[in-house]
Amino acid sequence: MTSVAHPRAAIILAAGQGTRMKSPLPKVLHPVGGRAMLDHAIDAAEALGCERIVVVVGAHSPEVRDHVVKRLGEDAIAVQDPPLGTGHAVRAAEAVLGDFVGQVVITYGDVPLLRAADIEPVFAAHEGVTVIGFVTGEPGAYGRLVTEGDTLVAITEAKEASPEILAINACNSGVMAAPVGLLFDLLAEVKNDNAKGEFYLTDVVELARRRGAPTRVVMAGEDAVMGVNSQNELAIAETVFQDDAARAFMEAGVTLIAPRTVQFAWDTRIEGGAMIEPYVVFGPGAKIASGARIRSFSHIEGATVASGAEVGPYARLRPGADLGEGAKVGNFVEVKNVRMGKGAKANHLAYLGDGEVGAKANIGAGTIFCNYDGFFKHHTTVGEGAFVGSNSSLVAPVTIGAGAMVGSGSVITRDVAAGDLALARGEQQSKGGWAARFMEKMRAKKALKAK
Ligand code: UD1
Ligand code: MG
Repeated sequence: MTSVAHPRAAIILAAGQGTRMKSPLPKVLHPVGGRAMLDHAIDAAEALGCERIVVVVGAHSPEVRDHVVKRLGEDAIAVQDPPLGTGHAVRAAEAVLGDFVGQVVITYGDVPLLRAADIEPVFAAHEGVTVIGFVTGEPGAYGRLVTEGDTLVAITEAKEASPEILAINACNSGVMAAPVGLLFDLLAEVKNDNAKGEFYLTDVVELARRRGAPTRVVMAGEDAVMGVNSQNELAIAETVFQDDAARAFMEAGVTLIAPRTVQFAWDTRIEGGAMIEPYVVFGPGAKIASGARIRSFSHIEGATVASGAEVGPYARLRPGADLGEGAKVGNFVEVKNVRMGKGAKANHLAYLGDGEVGAKANIGAGTIFCNYDGFFKHHTTVGEGAFVGSNSSLVAPVTIGAGAMVGSGSVITRDVAAGDLALARGEQQSKGGWAARFMEKMRAKKALKAK
């Protein structure tokens, strides 16, 4: 959090129904970059140093309420019921925020790309009303900003606007800041005698001017203020998010061979000097060090990959996978909650769950850590420099000692001491000439039938 001389609060509007999403999941809980849009809005408010954050929720979506309570607590909830417009929504926060003294900013749960840095200029003035505007080639239904020099004269909703005002391409993002006392005083005067019969937040601009309070506009980019109302707009926001993330990583020195094919999460961390091949998906919580290489078609979530390590192609790292320097996890290997030491290898077709693989140990193709007994999860330890032969099952809890070997195809249920060889499979038998005699007999049988 930035420390600020003037106390700040945020009111995040999230009471809309989001019917155009046509989804059982409330609109603001849809993810961008793997994080709910509402959480992006809360993140921005926190990054701005807002000491109070109030989310205005509708009575229709307990899921949104629960989500907010979990993250910010009950004190962060204001309910708007029924929804009678943006001005009405902000007023719903008055009871919760009434004791706060300072500046308040109004933001939106369905505007996921707006970052603290985009909002910061709205706080530059400590008096009057400041609005974030943007210029667009398609002003459509947005409120138009009527300005005189730096002064914002009015915001006119499209439905109320004359043709001259509709021709203005400077639009209202909806984001607004004002001293909290002034804001609620002005809102008390807002009426709903307009085309939509709603209480418009935007009316506070003219009301402020009537009182002689300054009204200003600061501009932001069109992408940053974009709101999401449909699945298509959600996908557009995701694209912008991904493009921004890819650009930032490349600027930091990450090699992305085909950036558009890589999916990042909001908290993906990749150091400069790492290489990410095409078609890699990062779920939340991925940390990739400089010098690591993530090969194509890998899926990485909640995992850490150290320098010089190589993952994939076609690998899956799940939460708790922690790959040490120079470790290798190859095709069709799934790793969950396993720490792999320096230079440890699982190059093909394996499941490593809940355990530890020591430095330089080698896990053969087809090895399974049998970590689940149907009720509980158990731990598997493979010591440094151990060699686990292909197609082995290590039934946890079990320890393979340092430098031990497990013969291919073994089912290991007891610990193997350091340096031992464990074999746990049917012993091989050979019957001299049996196959040749058998085949001869069968061929003769078949020839007889064909006649
Ligand atoms: C609003 C602005 C408009 C601006 C546009 C930017 C007003 C009157 N108009 O218009 O100038 O260009 O946003 O997108 O403010 N909401 C509630 N409760 C309500 C109504 C709305 O919480 O009763 C929330 C919605 O969930 C949504 C946001 O406020 O997130 C904006 O509401 P919406 O009805 O979409 O306003 P617009 O008509 O688009
Ligand atoms: Mg809207």
